[in-house]
Amino acid sequence: MIDFYLNGRRQRCADVSADTSLLELLRGPLGQTGTKEGCASGDCGACTVAIGEPDANGELVYHSANACIVPAHQLNGCHLATVEGLARGDALHPVQAAMVDYHASQCGFCTPGIVMSLFTLHESQRRAPAPLTPERLEAALGGNLCRCTGYRPIRDAALRMNEYPDTHPSWAEDPTLAGNVAALAHDATQRSPAPGHYEVPATLDALRDLRRQRPEARLVAGATDLWLEATQQLKPLDDLIDLRRVAELQRIEETAEGWWIGAAVTYARLEPLLVEHFPAFAHLMHRFASMQIRNRATLGGNIANASPIGDTPPVLLALDARLVLDGPQGPRELPIAEFFLDYKRTALNDGEFLRAILLPRRSEPQKLKVWKIAKRREDDISAVLAAFAWRLEDGLLHDVHLAFGGMAAIPRRAASAEAALEGQAPTAAAFAAAKAALRDDFQPLSDVRGSSEYRLTVAANLLERLRLGLDSTTAEVSLDAYAH
Ligand code: FES
Ligand code: FES
Repeated sequence: MIDFYLNGRRQRCADVSADTSLLELLRGPLGQTGTKEGCASGDCGACTVAIGEPDANGELVYHSANACIVPAHQLNGCHLATVEGLARGDALHPVQAAMVDYHASQCGFCTPGIVMSLFTLHESQRRAPAPLTPERLEAALGGNLCRCTGYRPIRDAALRMNEYPDTHPSWAEDPTLAGNVAALAHDATQRSPAPGHYEVPATLDALRDLRRQRPEARLVAGATDLWLEATQQLKPLDDLIDLRRVAELQRIEETAEGWWIGAAVTYARLEPLLVEHFPAFAHLMHRFASMQIRNRATLGGNIANASPIGDTPPVLLALDARLVLDGPQGPRELPIAEFFLDYKRTALNDGEFLRAILLPRRSEPQKLKVWKIAKRREDDISAVLAAFAWRLEDGLLHDVHLAFGGMAAIPRRAASAEAALEGQAPTAAAFAAAKAALRDDFQPLSDVRGSSEYRLTVAANLLERLRLGLDSTTAEVSLDAYAH
C-alpha cells in the first residue's frame, strides 16, 4: 500500500509492484497525465514533480524530483504536487501566469516540468526570501532541457514570478494538510516490514535482519542510478530494500576528526557542509547532477554502485575518506582506498551495506582541486574526473593524492605519479616525471566518452594545470575549482 497525498487529497494505492516508478503510477492508475515522459532516465526534466516532506517543525518542504526514476513506494508519507494541482480554479499559480505573460510556454513535453521546477523555486522563495540570482535560476532550471528553442523567455518569467499575486493552490491553504502528511510519514516509519518485495526497514537492526534473510535483494536510496536498470535496460527490479527511513543512514555528525555522513544523505542535504568546508567538492556538485537529481541521489549510492566513472569517489580518495560497512556481523571501518576491488566489485561482504562515510577535517595547508572533463558542462558523465589534494610546505609537496575516475575499471589513485611528486618542489621537471608516470598507473579504455589516448592526455594536462596554478612562494592556489 502506498499512502500519500496528491495535490491535497489522500491517495491509497494497493498492489503496486516494487519496480513501479512514480511517473508510471501517476500516468497509469492515477490518470494524471500532465506529468510527461521524455527520456525516462532523469536527464530531461519533463517528468519533474514537487515532493513535499514534513520538516522538523512539521511544515511541508518541497523539492523537485524526476518522477521517471523515483520509486512509487518512496511516496509513502509525502505530499506530491503535480502540474494539475497548481491553479486554483481559473486563477493560475504565479509561475503559470508569468509563463503565459512572458511567452515562456514551450512544447507540451517540457513545459509541465519547467513549471514544476519553478514552483519549487517559488516555494523556497516563500519560505526564505532571497534574491533570484542568475545562479539560483540556473540551478533550479539546469535539469530541464529543451531541445528546440531558447531559455530567455523562461528566465524572464522566472525573474518576474514573485511580482504576481500569490495565488496559492487551494491545498496550500488547508491548515490540516501538513499535519496529516506528517502523521502519515510517522506511520510509515512505525510500520513493521510487511512481507513483500519492497521492504522499508525503520531501524538499523531491521535492516541487518533483512540483509541476513535476503542478501540478494537490491538496496535502494535515491534510485537515480538503480532505476535506469528498469527504464533503460528493462531489467526487473522486483526485490528491493529501501534505506531512506533508517535514521542512522540519514545523519550528518560532526566529530573532532571530521564529518560522518550517513550513506542515505542526499547531495542537497550535504551541500551546505561542502560549501563551507570543501568548496571544490561543492562546485563539482553543480556539474555532476541537476537539482532534481541532487535532491534524491545520495553520497552512499555513488560509492556503493562502484561505477568507474562515479564522480565523488575520486574526491573521497583524494581526501582519504573512510567508510563504515555494516551488516549481520556488525559494523567495520575501512579506508575508501580499500573499498573498490575491481569493475563493479567492492569490499562489501554478503549481506553488508554501506552505513556512513567520514569526510576527514582538512588541516589548513591541505589543498584540494577537482576537475571534471565531460562533453557537456552540466548533467553529463565524465570522460575523466581528477581530484588532487596536497600540502605545500617550505616549497615542497607533501601528502600528494592524485585520484582519477574514468581512467581504470575502478576509481583510484595514481601511485607512480604521486611518488614522482612527493617531497619535490613543484618544478616543471617534477611534473614532467609525474605526467610520464601516469602511463604506468593507467591503461584506460576507449569508449564513447573518449579514447584511451585522449584520457591519458587529459589526465596529464590536468597535472600541468595543477602545476601552473601553484605558487610555491605563498602556498596559495587559484580559486577555480572545476573545469569546463
Ligand atoms: Fe526525462 Fe524523467 S522523463 S527526466
Ligand atoms: Fe520541448 Fe523544446 S520545449 S523540446
